[in-house]
Amino acid sequence: MTTIAETTVEYREPTPGDLPDIQVIDGAAFPTGPYPFFVLRQLLHADSSRSVVAVEPGDDEDEVVGYALTIMGEGSRAWLLSLAVSPDRRGHGYGRGLLQHSIEVCQDKGDADEIWLTVDPKNVTAYTLFKDFGFVMRVHDEEYFGEGHPRDVLVYKLRRLPELPTVVTDENGYPGA
Ligand SMILES: CC(C)(COP(=O)(O)OP(=O)(O)OC[C@H]1O[C@@H](n2cnc3c(N)ncnc32)[C@H](O)[C@@H]1OP(=O)(O)O)[C@@H](O)C(=O)NCCC(=O)NCCS
Repeated sequence: MTTIAETTVEYREPTPGDLPDIQVIDGAAFPTGPYPFFVLRQLLHADSSRSVVAVEPGDDEDEVVGYALTIMGEGSRAWLLSLAVSPDRRGHGYGRGLLQHSIEVCQDKGDADEIWLTVDPKNVTAYTLFKDFGFVMRVHDEEYFGEGHPRDVLVYKLRRLPELPTVVTDENGYPGA
């Protein structure tokens, strides 16, 4: 649990029950090209373990107020496919929290060297957030999503954890000579 301002928020792996909330947030964030429900369902069914939702506890039921969808791609690259916060909850640190937790999940899994994402170069809010975390631009594609829809591809380098030396033990479980 993380406390941001006066609100307590939980960051956790999404469940199928979170999908209706995720779809509403996605639709509000990307009105001209939201993910269809079946795509969200299958993305999470294929692998939900890198994705994160921000959840505010409620009296009757908890409310999902933001999500970050991440999958594993080729060549040790994880892809942060989408990040969004409910319009009425923006500016309270949830975007930062979701990104932080997404990076930590990838770091803990240890199978990715980098996190890749695309961002509209005019999306100042998201761009500022990503640069602040250390994402750097790898390439600009003027027609990434077709004519009139440019994107910058940003990359975040994950820390390589040092490999621990193998400890050889004797028959009593003590380190051998
Ligand atoms: C991008 C988005 C997820 C940020 O979520 P948020 O909860 O509002 O962000 P936070 O409150 O955690 O703010 C994080 C940082 O974003 C930047 N930021 C936030 N609002 C900003 C604004 N109005 N102008 C410029 N930068 C802003 C700041 O760097 C901020 O850090 P700071 O508060 O330490 O200065 C949210 O605006 C959103 O859902 N946008 C629509 C979807 C989208 O564009 N997604 C990203 C593309 S994949």
